[in-house]
Amino acid sequence: MITFDEKNQVFQLDTPNTSYLIGIVDGKYLGHIYYGNKIDDTDVIYLLRPEEIPSPARRAREKVNFLDAFSTEYSCGGAGDFRESCINVRAADGQEGLELGYVSHQIFAGKKALEGLPVTWGGEADCDTLEITLQDAASGLTAVLSYTAFRDTDAITRSVRIINRGQEVLYLTRALSLCLDMDNEDFEVISLPGAWGRERRIQRKPLGYGSTMFESLRGETSQQEHPFAAVVSANCTQTAGEVYAFNLVYSGNFMTKLSVNQFDSLRVVMGIHPERFCWKLEPGESFQAPEAVMVYSGQGLGAMTRAFHKLYREHLIRSPWKKKERPVLINSREATYFNFDTGKILALAREAAKAGIEMLVLDDGWFGHRNSDNNSLGDWFVNETKLPGGLKYLADEINALGMKFGLWMEPEMISADSELYRAHPDWVLRTGRREPAQCREQYVLDLSNPRVEDYIYGQIKNVLSSANIEYVKWDMNRPLSDVGSLSLAPDRQGEIMHRYMLAVYRMQERLLQDFPELLLENCSSGGARFDPGMLYYSPQIWCSDMTADVERLAIQEGTMMIYPLSTMGAHVSDCPNHATGRRTPFETRGQVALAGTFGYELDVRKISGEERAQIPSQIAAYKKYHGLISDGEYYRIASYQENHFYDCFEVVSQDQKTALVCFVQVLTEPNKKSRRLRLQGLREDWVYEVDGQKLSGRTLMNAGILMKRMQDDFQARMLEVRLSGEMTEWEAQLDEKSD
Ligand code: DGJ
Repeated sequence: MITFDEKNQVFQLDTPNTSYLIGIVDGKYLGHIYYGNKIDDTDVIYLLRPEEIPSPARRAREKVNFLDAFSTEYSCGGAGDFRESCINVRAADGQEGLELGYVSHQIFAGKKALEGLPVTWGGEADCDTLEITLQDAASGLTAVLSYTAFRDTDAITRSVRIINRGQEVLYLTRALSLCLDMDNEDFEVISLPGAWGRERRIQRKPLGYGSTMFESLRGETSQQEHPFAAVVSANCTQTAGEVYAFNLVYSGNFMTKLSVNQFDSLRVVMGIHPERFCWKLEPGESFQAPEAVMVYSGQGLGAMTRAFHKLYREHLIRSPWKKKERPVLINSREATYFNFDTGKILALAREAAKAGIEMLVLDDGWFGHRNSDNNSLGDWFVNETKLPGGLKYLADEINALGMKFGLWMEPEMISADSELYRAHPDWVLRTGRREPAQCREQYVLDLSNPRVEDYIYGQIKNVLSSANIEYVKWDMNRPLSDVGSLSLAPDRQGEIMHRYMLAVYRMQERLLQDFPELLLENCSSGGARFDPGMLYYSPQIWCSDMTADVERLAIQEGTMMIYPLSTMGAHVSDCPNHATGRRTPFETRGQVALAGTFGYELDVRKISGEERAQIPSQIAAYKKYHGLISDGEYYRIASYQENHFYDCFEVVSQDQKTALVCFVQVLTEPNKKSRRLRLQGLREDWVYEVDGQKLSGRTLMNAGILMKRMQDDFQARMLEVRLSGEMTEWEAQLDEKSD
């Protein structure tokens, strides 16, 4: 619900458990009053300390001191607020600065889409929106701050639209999406840094005076940082403490900056990175900044996680596959790398089909003359030497085995050794002064050029129309460098990074319009573009190239902290693992992959008969639990990242009748007792059956259960918890089928 208290000039945005309050001071300045647990009063403008900063009588004389201390809703550059600004402009004469003041507002049920950008959505019954219009009197620049409060989850989303209503050209030099000023209470900050093969590791550290920044300038959200930060109270755990969390619905350059200043105020800003950004606004033109999500939890990190999961499950992911059981796939990557032909792929498919695998995905190496990663990107025609009869023949043969067929592509890239590059060397990102830098022997296509975008999209569409391709893995294997475009004017070169992202979004949107049933999985050199922006287009994203189960525990824990389990591409891979050389049981690899979309990434012909024999039961487990895993509420019970010995999470069905406890003992410890695990999310007064015992929810959540000791390293166990005497949903289904 959103209300405006006319008398006190205060807006209140309520979600089920939280309130967010904004006030108008002196009829002009928009101040941030409060964000936290739900409150009752709007007569709270005093929290902005209007008498202190300095008092109204001295405000004109001390305007700089006022702006420097005021808790603002959207910070402007140049006029006296010396903290991080969200917006700034440069006029044609080179002069900078602006001061936005309140003009008007409107409140309505529902939510608008953002043109060309991924965005959370909701109808009139789901959410309410507040739009506040601000204007800079000197330049005519107008900003519309838009806030949506959801009714079914504790999330508030916000975005900003900037319009040049003046008479002159303006250059927008920064246009961030989120600003939150608050009192620092010895907060700590959680972020998700990483690297290739080590994506989204949870990091927690204190916030002191000065600034902490998380950013990407790679043209992708990146493996190194993540567009997420959570400000938490020092005592915050999974079940207690305060959390203010922020996540950007965008897949390109971003900046999150948290600064504590002289007055112990904390300012958090988040949005498109201002470096390498400059957007020209002719009179009448507008710029839409991406959406940012804010979640507050007064009950620890677990509640924050579940608020994000709900928002993304119910109000972001659009795919018809969102809640459907995904086909269990086998991906050719770790089975054959580039060394395949039709015969080999069909042999792999036949063996996979026998084991019950439902889809074969042909990874990199099927086009141009590609037998390694050094050529042919951009030449999206089939290598008939490897695949005689083309994709159609292969797909038909695979379909004849009762399997679906899926395909890998990397549409945004071009190899120096490609027909496309030889024909259009001007189609790559390049500055015009020097040769662009290669990475993995490839260049990035200049997608800010609409001709390039159209040509590439046409190529993708041809390929997908040529055979029965039901799944696409859209890869992107290098960051953007040499960010220049030969097709854009000199004063628009600062727009390339964002124009590139808009083109990627547009291409994926066209793909979904043209092939509405397609199951799209995004990927970027593993998990370099795992973000809410991509989830708007694909219901699943390849989580990491690190398929080793132990490493995956940490990667998946960081990912699950924000994103629903159903979005995590996860596969069982070979042993010893290709990246770590570690040997772990097939069963454990299976259980770890079961947390996400389930599949295999190995040569099913070459694994032992004993392992192959386990595949049908792993698939059966996936089918049995996928509804619970993808739709249930997630609880983190223990973190291997923190304790270095074991990992445990639990998923509880929405009706709280069923739960699944997934436990992995990474390392045994000698002479230790069994682990006591306290469950979460159950109904206190219901009696459940678990591990042969009948216990109440209250007992299970307070006293807990004992996880039987396991004698070896890398052991996994799943425990089903079910309401005593009740048939579970899947049993009911089986029962129905047998009738
Ligand atoms: C990176 C992906 O993450 C891998 O799974 C694989 O598809 C390769 N690219 C192919 O080049």
